[in-house]
Amino acid sequence: MDLKHNSRRAFVKQTGVLAGGLIALPTFAGANFFSGADDTIKIALVGCGGRGTGAAMQALLSKQNVKLVAMADAFPDRLASCYKSLTGDEGAERGGVKVDVKSRIDVPEERRFTGFDGYKKAIALADVVLLTTPPGFRPIHFEEAIRQNKHVFMEKPVATDPVGIKKVLDAAVIAKQKKLNVVVGLQRHYQNSYRELYKRKDLIGDITSSQAWWNNNGVWVNKRQYNQTEMEYQMRNWYYFNWLCGDHITEQHIHNIDVINWFKGAYPVRAQGMGGREVRKGKDHGEIFDHHFVEFEYADGSILNSQCRHIPKTMSRVDELLTGTKGKIHCGAAKIVDRSGKVVYQYDKAGENNPYQTEHDELFAAIAKGEYKFSDTENGAYSSMTSILGRMATYSGQVIEWDKALNSGLDLQPKVYDWNALPPLLPNSDGYYPVAVPGVTKYV
Ligand SMILES: NC(=O)c1ccc[n+]([C@@H]2O[C@H](COP(=O)([O-])OP(=O)(O)OC[C@H]3O[C@@H](n4cnc5c(N)ncnc54)[C@H](O)[C@@H]3O)[C@@H](O)[C@H]2O)c1
Repeated sequence: MDLKHNSRRAFVKQTGVLAGGLIALPTFAGANFFSGADDTIKIALVGCGGRGTGAAMQALLSKQNVKLVAMADAFPDRLASCYKSLTGDEGAERGGVKVDVKSRIDVPEERRFTGFDGYKKAIALADVVLLTTPPGFRPIHFEEAIRQNKHVFMEKPVATDPVGIKKVLDAAVIAKQKKLNVVVGLQRHYQNSYRELYKRKDLIGDITSSQAWWNNNGVWVNKRQYNQTEMEYQMRNWYYFNWLCGDHITEQHIHNIDVINWFKGAYPVRAQGMGGREVRKGKDHGEIFDHHFVEFEYADGSILNSQCRHIPKTMSRVDELLTGTKGKIHCGAAKIVDRSGKVVYQYDKAGENNPYQTEHDELFAAIAKGEYKFSDTENGAYSSMTSILGRMATYSGQVIEWDKALNSGLDLQPKVYDWNALPPLLPNSDGYYPVAVPGVTKYV
């Protein structure tokens, strides 16, 4: 069946038939892929923070006929500031042309949802959902979006623990059966320079080793406020708690690890490494490390040396380097050199795009044409898992096998999501949280 030559409405109908043939879909009748009488693609935003605001703007700047119709955030103040920022944006433009973004936003009070369950209601109102909360919630949000037959843009990482990864992988199978497009915000896959380097990766022969860096000063801290429950505090200061964030090796360094997986066309089979905290010692620094160094080993025996550090006044570098039998790919410099160091390919950075915009341009173009084109989920899940494997290795100080880690049953999520429920990690009587100690901490 050639989807390309069918109208969008036919695609909707056809997708229902295809999906219905594969799995029981009690809710599919009347599914709202494109629920309006016109061709408007309705968007719901779940997680109205920094990235969510950016992703919503990029979706609204896409060339398709899109409308933001629903928003959900755990906190009313975060939702309100996102709404204000999106609707207050007079200057939004694309390619030098002003875009009337405001006319593409139709989110009255009754379609603004807060609390832990708001996502379900927002998802129900849309054709496409943007999932941009802290990553701990991604598995349940993604599962729900696919259950409700929605196309998805979701940020990386897609989970913070192996149980979450498995949930996402299970939902990915159903997303494929239903032909739902899924883009994951590992934006280097949508960046011109990386795409051009990838096309030419054979110039370096077989990749025998690689390096990846995310070294910089670190990120924000949201200090505890006197009137917060423990759950609210951890949700506001989410970067420092693994059930929400996964540690910075997972939350940020995933980008670089993912590039190596992509170019290798493989995921590691085991990892060992070291890490700790030198400067993250305050009460508001939760449990995460401030540095990790991991040796990831692939099935062919090649090693990825991965380092990430959040320590001010140290060397900054966010980059990837692949070494092969015939040369090297320097991703940051967008060039390929032979073994003598001679440049054999240099990408002209004048042609660089905004990959955050391209993610949405390509996703919405495919949806508008009725194409099933994007299934980023497995790669997003396996690259997230690679970073989790690295964390398990640095926390325990042991060699950890991929299969054992993935099947470990490690589940960091709270049993109950409620403002008065206790999160899984609690402070001691002095207000400090337990931190992993290599050699003592078990990887599960
Ligand atoms: N691809 C990239 O380059 C990139 C850049 C920045 C952030 N991100 C990713 O985007 C995600 C969000 O990061 P951010 O910087 O926007 O964080 P943020 O704190 O600014 O925003 C997160 C928002 O989600 C809300 N939220 C938390 N739990 C929720 C729940 N259960 N239901 C609904 N809303 C909930 C928070 O209140 C907050 O408004 C993270 O996964 C991060 O890794 C990706």
